[in-house]
Amino acid sequence: MTDITSVLSENRVFPPPAGFSERAHLKSRDDYDKLCAEERANPEAYWSRLATEELHWNQPFHQTLEWKPPHARWFIGGRCNLSYECLDANLDQHADKCALRFEGEPGDTRNLTYRELHAEVCRVANGLKALGVTAGDRVGIYLPMVPEAVIAMLACARIGAVHSVVFGGFSAQALQERMNDAGARVLLTADGGWRKGAVVPLLANVRAAMAAGIPSLKDVVVLRRVSPQPLELEKPEVDWHTWVKTQGPECPPFWVDSEHPLFILYTSGSTGKPKGVLHATAGFGLWTKLTSRWVFDLRDTDVYWCTADVGWVTGHSYVTYGPLMNGVTVVMYEGAPTTPAPDRFWDIIERHHVSIFYTAPTAIRSFMRLGEEHPMKHDLSSLRLLGSVGEPINPQAWIWYRDTIGRGRCPIVDTWWQTETGGILISPLPGLTPTKPGSATLPLPGIHPEVLDTHGKPVPPGAGGKLFITKPWPSMLRTIWGDDERFTQTYFSEQPGLYFTGDGARRDNDGYFWVVGRVDDVVNVAGHRLGTAEVESALVSHLNVAEAAVVGRPDELKGTALVAFVTLKQGVNASDALKAELAMHVSREIGAIARPDEIRFSQALPKTRSGKIMRRLLRDVADGKVTTQDTTTLEDLSVLAALRQEDE
Ligand code: WTA
Repeated sequence: MTDITSVLSENRVFPPPAGFSERAHLKSRDDYDKLCAEERANPEAYWSRLATEELHWNQPFHQTLEWKPPHARWFIGGRCNLSYECLDANLDQHADKCALRFEGEPGDTRNLTYRELHAEVCRVANGLKALGVTAGDRVGIYLPMVPEAVIAMLACARIGAVHSVVFGGFSAQALQERMNDAGARVLLTADGGWRKGAVVPLLANVRAAMAAGIPSLKDVVVLRRVSPQPLELEKPEVDWHTWVKTQGPECPPFWVDSEHPLFILYTSGSTGKPKGVLHATAGFGLWTKLTSRWVFDLRDTDVYWCTADVGWVTGHSYVTYGPLMNGVTVVMYEGAPTTPAPDRFWDIIERHHVSIFYTAPTAIRSFMRLGEEHPMKHDLSSLRLLGSVGEPINPQAWIWYRDTIGRGRCPIVDTWWQTETGGILISPLPGLTPTKPGSATLPLPGIHPEVLDTHGKPVPPGAGGKLFITKPWPSMLRTIWGDDERFTQTYFSEQPGLYFTGDGARRDNDGYFWVVGRVDDVVNVAGHRLGTAEVESALVSHLNVAEAAVVGRPDELKGTALVAFVTLKQGVNASDALKAELAMHVSREIGAIARPDEIRFSQALPKTRSGKIMRRLLRDVADGKVTTQDTTTLEDLSVLAALRQEDE
């Protein structure tokens, strides 16, 4: 097996804007090098210093790290509480500052100051205690993007309960499977949420899941979000407002052990069964707090908006914990980006004076497709930094993001991380890192990524390989809930003792990392292993292409043939001539080895609700197979049906 061939080259470099660096927390390469050197000289002293400075310790830790691969324990013997960090720690200076600025899809708004958020969290924490929830119990959260979702997470953290948020777009079956795996005792939910002008039927799904059986579940608390009338509830459901009304607004934090589990979050693996990624309290808290400040350069005056749903890790680390620990104002939006009009996001940025905007490449590409007239209608001058997460961002989208949304003024942080890493590991630091479109650039101080070949040897600059993290870091996952064997197998068996990310990457001559996508999305075409993301990026760089997904199809001659699914920009006609032109375009951009063997046009691509293209489904379509795989993460099943129709 040869190594991953990485062929896309991108030579543009953008230095940090001068005015930005002057005011940034980390201003120069020197600042970065100093931190890196401090860690290299004495890792434990480095992490111990940071943990001591950043977190409030009810009881100090006596040992920084115990590393028995693949198991790490951090800040041993310490006691802390992340709800305290997010709330109580901000009451001195920010009690009357807006913590959450919520906007519902229908246009309703709600502001909660740090003091009010503190009181709400305490009420819910007391409510959970009244239901008999104690430290270590699992609490399911199945809510729309409303303040109660954040409140629920922090209420669990306050009493040491372990939250497991299930994305509101997941089906009853997916919910049931996750609740059973976690052994949840209480479920916090709502009657529904608003999306694209319609109701997401959360309570109906909960009832279906309950009917199918969740034996551990004793109580279901239902928030009224969409119903005009009082809810008609069935046993064991209780009304959220009735439940909290009688609870007091003070609840002392339960000081948990550093390693106490904070949450379980399910994520898909290579098999059908989702993995319950388990995160521990102190390490997760330290790293999300620090990275929020370093990467987003958070300041007191910032209005910060991350568009991720609380159902994904980004909604944990960078909607809830990280920014609130830093005491900023967090914007939270319930609904779809294009409801009621394609400029909803830009309208929100303008009205709330958002200064930091963090979203996903897939969103950026769909905005590109909708046309620049929508952002151009709005005053986006409050923005000072843009972020990207979730998949490799193709240079074309990066440049559009920079020019059309950032108006050329704002640095872009392309942040690489995973559910498993808990927080950002590779990213530009906006005051000091020259950026290259499509590269997540350099590891954050204390993080040790390496690109290795199949024998575990570092590959030379420019060559592709597998991305590993070679040393433990505080916010790493601790295990897979209930399946430690799978944890070891999935992450630590590729090279014993090293964390395998599942991603393919290369490093350039400046040491910058270019993540090319999941290794399972890497295909071997005629002896060359290619990152499908690179071929996609080339396709998307064509004037007429909105979005593209490339998968492998078994091929007698080449081993694997490349099949590209392409969505065209509005108004562009699909034709054979265009197919030929696109194939030529890819040849030109990357080389003949990357030229797709087949190009199919489609109206839309099947995606998870977090926006990731479901390539495994496309592989089946490409191969003419009937899909028997789990489809619970499809945003819109009709998209798959449509693809099949176009097929025939
Ligand atoms: C991909 C999301 C390139 C990668 C936080 C990773 C990225 C997976 C980037 C994790 C990025 C995330 N550049 N690829 N900046 N960020 N990825 O668990 O393949 O939903 O392994 O976590 O997304 O996805 P997850």
